Amino acid sequence: MRKQIAAANWKMNNTLEEGTKLLNDIINSNIQVNNHKCVIFAVPFPYLVSANQQLDNKSNMFVAAQNCHYKAAGAYTGEVSVDMLASINIHYCVVGHSERREYFLESNQLLAEKVDRCLSTDITPIFCCGEPLAIREDDSQNDYVAVQLKESLFHLDIEAIQKVVIAYEPIWAIGTGKTATSAQAQEMHAHIRAVLANQFGNAIADNISILYGGSVKGANANEIFSQPDVDGGLVGGASLIATEFIQIIKALK
Ligand code: PGA
Repeated sequence: MRKQIAAANWKMNNTLEEGTKLLNDIINSNIQVNNHKCVIFAVPFPYLVSANQQLDNKSNMFVAAQNCHYKAAGAYTGEVSVDMLASINIHYCVVGHSERREYFLESNQLLAEKVDRCLSTDITPIFCCGEPLAIREDDSQNDYVAVQLKESLFHLDIEAIQKVVIAYEPIWAIGTGKTATSAQAQEMHAHIRAVLANQFGNAIADNISILYGGSVKGANANEIFSQPDVDGGLVGGASLIATEFIQIIKALK
């Protein structure tokens, strides 16, 4: 069975005190995460070390960075390299979130370099894709997402692609309270899997976890995650509330 993943994306939220309490509330709920599941917390850079310490010994729970730089090292003031992340035991990194694509002009080509950089240090990229509203209204979302996958992931070999987690996040559903229907999510996830199968083969595509993101909450997680090609979620707003995120973890298949 593919790994089922609940990934929290805190974005630029929480002070250290707030974040520490949030994580503690989730850990102290004694939620069990068995081996075919995984819970990931993408926290702001200043909290990576302390969040990792808090999660110490919690099986199948990990901390992720929300971003990394595409170069190995050098004169890039304010940036964070994958070697820095690896050196503090971070094994996941969100790559190409739509907010980074939009506000920081990250292109598919640049994201291909970030994916490579992550994989060079054994960091699993959580690669985000998804269409804006105008593309959905034009009904060209399938082609749009296929180009994102092609330009950022198709250069990988069969071994490397298996280390990637994909998050489909329709931009019109992020932070808007407007979730894709479970049928829309399933349709796109099946399409993404077919695009991957076409390039890398069925067996490989069948093993890649594809998360849905965009207004996932405790109340809708069960229905969305129950779709056959949806392997969990990347969660923003609802991951900032312990009870909500616990409910989302419980909704994993
Ligand atoms: P949301 O954000 O759950 O607040 O819609 C999801 C995301 O941006 O990853």
